[in-house]
Amino acid sequence: MKKIILDLDTGIDDALAISYILGSPEVELIGITSTFGNVVLEQGIRNDLAITDLLGHPEVPVYRGQSHALTADSFTVSDISAFIHGKNGIGDVEIPDSKRTVETDMNAVDFIIASVKKYGKDLTFVPTGPETNIAKALQKAPEIKDEIGNIVMMGGALTVCGNSAPWVEANISQDPEACDLLFRSGAPVTMIGLDVTLQTLMTYEHSEQWRGIGTPAATFLADMVDFYIKAYETTSPHLGGCGLHDPLAAAVAVDPTLVTTLPINMKVETEAPTRGRTIGDNTRLNNSKKTMQVAVGVDVDRFLNEFMTRIGNL
Ligand code: BDR
Ligand code: CA
Repeated sequence: MKKIILDLDTGIDDALAISYILGSPEVELIGITSTFGNVVLEQGIRNDLAITDLLGHPEVPVYRGQSHALTADSFTVSDISAFIHGKNGIGDVEIPDSKRTVETDMNAVDFIIASVKKYGKDLTFVPTGPETNIAKALQKAPEIKDEIGNIVMMGGALTVCGNSAPWVEANISQDPEACDLLFRSGAPVTMIGLDVTLQTLMTYEHSEQWRGIGTPAATFLADMVDFYIKAYETTSPHLGGCGLHDPLAAAVAVDPTLVTTLPINMKVETEAPTRGRTIGDNTRLNNSKKTMQVAVGVDVDRFLNEFMTRIGNL
């Protein structure tokens, strides 16, 4: 059975990614590695523990990851992140704190490395926040690039503008150097960027379907998503719903046939004025070995149907 690690800055859509994976009986979530981004690290850890409990999976271990970018020494949540995800990261919906704590025998970086050593090609790593944890793991154990099954990441954009600024997507903006290290490492990467995630939208009609399920899990998810849709009505009124960024990456980790991809070696620009832009790497254009796939098409209806069904499985 395919093993999954979710690497999260939890975050409303990160919480949706957890739900998607836990509602997918064909994969096993072997752990969550927490990081900073939509929230500070400690809030992310709190959310990951509380959400896995609420969804009926208290067996999922949560590991402490990086609290700031590779080139920074601290991190503060932006006003726009707090507006989109709420002060607590999960739409200001109240759920009970977990009685569990973060794992203490290993940190996130060591858990990633140990899991690659244990599961090899059976392991898919799914980062849906900044790529800082996997960058640190690649710095510490570079050989894992050849051993891991795949890295299915939410972040970046190739054919459309950014969402954090016109040239940069939010996850990459948090740590461009980390993502550049990942892209150039030679590890297998499937990039699920705004090119496809802005095509997969959730509306109040969908959240009403979840509310109709009537379980505490489905009600929590519906309340959280309503907050997210409302924020999108202000920030991106042209879309007509909220972008299902992180759950789409989770879905592709389960079933890669949901997207069509372009094989291309990418890089991240790290200098102003386009710091954080993801673009084809001109120094590796003639390199016949393409280690990256960038999603450029998505089966929207199939994904949305799968998502609705899998929430019913929880
Ligand atoms: C990404 O940025 C974060 O705010 C979301 O959780 C998602 O991972 C979308 O650009
Ligand atoms: Ca995220």
